This record gives sequence, structure tokens and C-alpha cells, in this order.
Amino acid sequence: MTALIIRGGTVVNHDHSRRADVLVDGETIVAIGSTLDAPAGAEVIDAGGCYVMPGGIDPHTHLEMPFMGTVTADDFEWGTKAALAGGTTMVVDFCLPYPGQSMLAAYQDWRHKSEKAASDYGFHMAVTSWGKQVFDEMEIVVKTYGINTFKHFMAYKGALMVNDDELYNSFARCAHLGAMPLVHAENGDVVARMQEALLERGVIGPEGHAYSRPPEVEGEATNRAIMIADMTGAPLYVVHTSCREAHEAIARARASGKRVYGEPLIQHLLLDGTEYQSKDWNHSAQRVMSPPFRDKSHQDSLWAGLQSGSLQVVATDHCAFTTEQKRLGVDDFRKIPNGTGGLEDRMPLLWTAGVTTGRLTKEEFVAVTSSNIARILNVYPRKGRLAVGSDADIVVWDPTASKTITAKNQLSRIDYNVFEGFSCTGGPAVTLSRGKIAWKDGELRAEKGDGKYVERPPFSPVHTADRAASGAARRCNTVSAGKFRTRKASEIEASDGTSFACKLRSKFEERTNKCSTRSSTEL
Ligand code: URP
Ligand code: ZN
Ligand code: ZN
Repeated sequence: MTALIIRGGTVVNHDHSRRADVLVDGETIVAIGSTLDAPAGAEVIDAGGCYVMPGGIDPHTHLEMPFMGTVTADDFEWGTKAALAGGTTMVVDFCLPYPGQSMLAAYQDWRHKSEKAASDYGFHMAVTSWGKQVFDEMEIVVKTYGINTFKHFMAYKGALMVNDDELYNSFARCAHLGAMPLVHAENGDVVARMQEALLERGVIGPEGHAYSRPPEVEGEATNRAIMIADMTGAPLYVVHTSCREAHEAIARARASGKRVYGEPLIQHLLLDGTEYQSKDWNHSAQRVMSPPFRDKSHQDSLWAGLQSGSLQVVATDHCAFTTEQKRLGVDDFRKIPNGTGGLEDRMPLLWTAGVTTGRLTKEEFVAVTSSNIARILNVYPRKGRLAVGSDADIVVWDPTASKTITAKNQLSRIDYNVFEGFSCTGGPAVTLSRGKIAWKDGELRAEKGDGKYVERPPFSPVHTADRAASGAARRCNTVSAGKFRTRKASEIEASDGTSFACKLRSKFEERTNKCSTRSSTEL
């Protein structure tokens, strides 16, 4: 690969912007400066009038995922090609073991599927049950496979959902391994009950999906997950935060010093619950996802969270099903495959609705589309920053570019787009993926298989801080060698992976407001 220079643009990182050229050699940025000399033969990209930013990272995709009786329509090839066309250079997908499948086998399945990826990618691993095998395999997943995030579904009862004891055990294991738990926060028991009640009343259409998942089920679960995480000493990342109640739980937790992160989706920022009132069944079903779209007032809360920093990341949860697939639920909203697309549109839409309106600065745009998640996932500054030594994942952003979103022109394999007709101002003129031009002036150059798997080490700085100072660690005092010693929650983890003794002791100490010397069995 030859050298390449990006000339005349404004380099934007999350903390600073300046006019500078960027020199790339092979896959890496080798110089950033006000007037750089290009080596002979270097390809020159003119970035005059453009912003030069770290490529986007979308930490929430479901490519070629078996789900609700079918498989998502965008595979790793077309999902990542769509991403690159929209300025996103890395995706993080969810490895989902099917019931009874080992995490190690699921990882191999996902590695196989992802060989087609055109952009870089990583995985989160889902914890869908608890037991010794899961406990043991989590360590291999972290240490051998470079996965430092574990996903927990608090919804999808009877399928992926895990209960509180499973959450507690898994979060404690994450704390011990230096991994970050992720949650889909909806109270699955309450959702199931509401679904039954709606069906008993004859509500079978897509609107029933939204009625059965009000903001309260998300607010309650978010709060519960935060408290459970705190008791184990683990930080927490809440995916697809869609409503004020969930955002407030996150903001409250952060204000009290907890390391909790929230991820609104571009869909929830821009689309609202009226989508489910359409007379056209297909239109409403195409927009069925969990959590559902909310009233507009919730959007204001999410935008405020991005502006103030109480929410950190904008993702897509790209989980694309065709209209034909959605029709699996034509007689029963519970059977409509949950999910919507957005990979190609996230960056242009967020720029349009965020930066051109003054809601976000261009630096904040970089933070919420790339740098913040790179830090949370512990791949910063290799990803998420334009700096010497970083991967040359770069987007040359033309703030004057315009397009109207339509399914007719999208790379995604589905037959509609939930943002159909939205006008965007600002978009990628060029996307570089590890130094290679992947997208330029409307032409896709990335090829199937260009992407590389990105390993992510455990114990991010935030995680290390949490282990030293979490609420659980502070509370879990015990007597050792005749004097009090503060033990980390993860140290107290029993060999079967539970920290129940610690939990009981914490509760007891809270009640008596003093350290107990009794064993957990006495309590
Ligand atoms: O509706 C959604 N969000 N589908 C994808 C699976 C999930 O819950 O993230
Ligand atoms: Zn989810
Ligand atoms: Zn998802």
C-alpha cells in the first residue's frame, strides 16, 4: 500500500480541532502537521473545506443474526459496506450463543460469518444463562478472544432473558475479569404480562408492541441493572437508552460517582411513537424494535444527555429485517422480528440533526460517534482518534454534501428505510479504512474481506478505577489477620462464581451501619 496524504482540511478530534494535513503510510497515521511534505508517489486527497475526523465506530450491530425465527438480512459484507458508505469504519457485533451452545462455539460461528466483513469489527459476547461452563468460558472469551464486553438481555422472556441472580453472578465475573457488562434494559416479566393482556383485549397489530413496552419497563430495568452492577463493583453500559426514565437513572448514577454509560440510538433520537399509528401495517411493523420509539418529549431528554455528557454514544442497533420477514408477525405483534437498520445513515443524520442545528459541536459529534466508545471498549487511541500511530480509519467529511435518504440507493439489503425521505446535510466525501480508500465521492471501493478482527484487552482505565473504589468494594469489609481489610467485590467471588456472601454482608452492614465479623451463613 502506498503513502497517502490528506491535505488542507480541519482535523477534528473529540477535544481539539486545527487545520492540518494527515500523512498515512500503509495502515497507520504517521504524521499530522500544518504543511506536510508528501513522499514521492503519495496519493493526495484534497480536503479543502472539509473536516477530517476519526472514522465512526458503531458498537451495536446484529449482522446475519438468527433471531425470532429468522436471520437478519444484512450480513457482515453488506452491513460493513453500508457502514463505510456512511463514514463508519468499525462495528461491534453481538456473538449470541443459541440455547445450550458454548460461548466458544458461538465465537467460532461469528468469526466464520465475519470473514466477509469489509470494515474492521469486534464482538461482544452474550450471557444468556448461568452455570459453571459460562463462568469458565468467560475467562477464555476475555483472555483468548479479546472480548471485554458481555451482553445481558433483561427482556425477551423465554428466549434470551436472564434473571437478577444471573445478572449478579455475571456482573461479578465481569468485575473479576476486567470486562464490562452491557444490558438490554427492559423488564421482561412485565413486558410478557402486558403482551398477554393486550392480546386478550384483541390488540394484535404493531401498536401493541409499543403499548407493551412503556418507558417504565425500561426505567425500572435500567435502575435495577445499575444497582446490581454497583453491588458487584463492575462498570455498566446500557444499550439503546430510549427514554427519559432510563436516561435519568443513568444520570443519577453518574452523579453519585458510578461508572455507567448510556447509548441512545439514532432511531430514538429522530423517530417517535406515531410511527406505530400508521394505517399501513407494513410501515408500523418495519419500525418495530425494542425498546420502541417514544413520544417526542423523550427525544429532548436524549439530546440533552448527549449535550451534557450524561449519555456518551450514538449507535444504531442495526438489525435489519425485510418486510417479508416482518410479516411473520402479521397475526400477533409478538412475532414481528424486532429490529431496524441505520448503519449507513447514523453519521449523516446525527450531523444534520445535531451539528447543523447547534445541538452538538463537531468535537462532540466525534466524541459520540467514535472517541467515547473507543475509550469505553479500550481500543483508544488506536481507534477513535486521529494521532500519529493510530489506525488510519479516517473520514473526510464534507459539511456541504447533501442527500435524501431512500431505500432505492442504500447498500443495506432490505427493501425499505425507516428514515426514507429524510434530508441530510453533511456526509463522507472519503472514508479510509486502515489506510485504504473504502468510499470516495459516492463510489464504494471496499471489498468483501477487507476488514480485520479487533481484539480488545480487559481492564480499561475506568474499570481499574472502579475496582479500587466501587460502592461494593467500599461496603464489603471483612476481618483479616486481626484487622479490617477492604476487599474488592471481585476478590470475594466464590469459586462457583457467586458473590452472594458479599451481598448479604453488605446489606447487613448497611442496616447495622458497622462492619460485621460474622460469616455470611450466620446472617
Ligand atoms: O429490537 C431490537 N433492538 N432488536 C435487536 C436485538 C436487541 O434487542 O438489541
Ligand atoms: Zn436490545
Ligand atoms: Zn441490539
